[in-house]
Amino acid sequence: MKVMVVGSGGREHALAWKLAGEDCVDKLLAAPGSAAIAQCAECLPVAADDVEGLVSVALERGVDLVLVGPEQPLAAGLVDLGRERGLKVFGPGRDGAQLESSKAFTKTLLDEAGVATARWAEFTQVAPARAFAEELGLPVVVKADGLAAGKGVVICEDAEQVDEALISMLEGGRFGEAGARVVVEEFMCGEELSFIALTDGRTVLPLATSQDHKAVFDGDKGPNTGGMGAYSPAPVCDQAMQALLLSDVLEPTVAALAARGIDYRGVLYAGIMVTDEGPKVLEYNVRFGDPECQPLMMRMRGSLAEAALACVEGTLDRVRLDWADDAAACVVMTAPGYPGEYSKGDVIEGIAAANELDDVKVFEAGTSRDDDGRVVSSGGRVLGVTSTGGNIAAALHGAYSAVSAISWPGAHYRRDIGHRALDSGASA
Ligand code: AMP
Ligand code: GLY
Repeated sequence: MKVMVVGSGGREHALAWKLAGEDCVDKLLAAPGSAAIAQCAECLPVAADDVEGLVSVALERGVDLVLVGPEQPLAAGLVDLGRERGLKVFGPGRDGAQLESSKAFTKTLLDEAGVATARWAEFTQVAPARAFAEELGLPVVVKADGLAAGKGVVICEDAEQVDEALISMLEGGRFGEAGARVVVEEFMCGEELSFIALTDGRTVLPLATSQDHKAVFDGDKGPNTGGMGAYSPAPVCDQAMQALLLSDVLEPTVAALAARGIDYRGVLYAGIMVTDEGPKVLEYNVRFGDPECQPLMMRMRGSLAEAALACVEGTLDRVRLDWADDAAACVVMTAPGYPGEYSKGDVIEGIAAANELDDVKVFEAGTSRDDDGRVVSSGGRVLGVTSTGGNIAAALHGAYSAVSAISWPGAHYRRDIGHRALDSGASA
């Protein structure tokens, strides 16, 4: 089949790399793709948010399946327009994408479905929001309702921070429209995990477990990022936890979507906090996690293209996905300064040497090529250096060996990716 990947980051590089190795994929396109993705797909100059352009090019090129990486085109209605014109596009429509594009939508749906989540309320005015935050007690969490590139969540330790967050979002225009409405919610303590599944709107097929690290510095310190590293499997998510998340979180969520008339097909990614009272939903995403996707693609056996097509066609109950027994780990290397202002255009040495190492694949998230064909940084998260290994410790060892082969001025990465898994004895 002819498959088109939408997007240009590290997640999309991993998706394209996996698809390019599948027997059932005889032509792979990417829009817009990247210099790295061009090594395994034909890249088309159409932006990932150009919904009309993407649908037109997919029709022109006779694409059998469109696989969408990022959330923006889903929230902008790519699937709706594609379906209308007879394309098979993997992902939810605009209605289903609200699971990621509106926190208030998700919290309401979770309450309807009886799925555990933090106590919450939504506000457009500062005074009642402040009063509710006081009722919940500190720390308390203030979230912009809409898409804010992972930066719209503020964990407030004192009353000044509550005021600052509420006033900047509701009155100061921080995050624009996305922050014109906020969710104020109870702070939850525990260990976080990502639980990612495919669904065709009826069947829910969990992927292998994975976990990411959001904070920029070692010890989970510093501001949140899109993700500084990830590994799979995640020991915190044992068989019993997986069964519980399927029966008490994902399946009721899909049923609640269906009850609202929402035909949800695609990735369902639950951000979970495992609290003393059991697992509770932090958030939903409507796409693969980045960087969780990188280790997952290295472990996935069987065809991603066929599984995605089965979601679109409503036949996911016939699909089985197998996973390598090996673990996989991804260490993200970022530009200096990220997630704040960061430099671009630095020449990166060593990617080819790292890719030569056994079991290693360097997925490129924010790179381009300069006039001399050298790899240069072009984004905040630059590389997702990923390795498999007999267990998580071995996979991490492989990833860090590859990281040490790569350099550019000021490159940053966390030294403690996988620390929780290692503490739990996963290296044994
Ligand atoms: P979200 O985008 O809603 O997942 O929030 C981003 C990050 O903020 C999460 O991955 C958590 O680390 C943290 N967070 C969000 N909501 C809460 C909460 N209610 N309690 C504790 N931490 C939270
Ligand atoms: N790694 C977190 C995310 O993709 O949202």
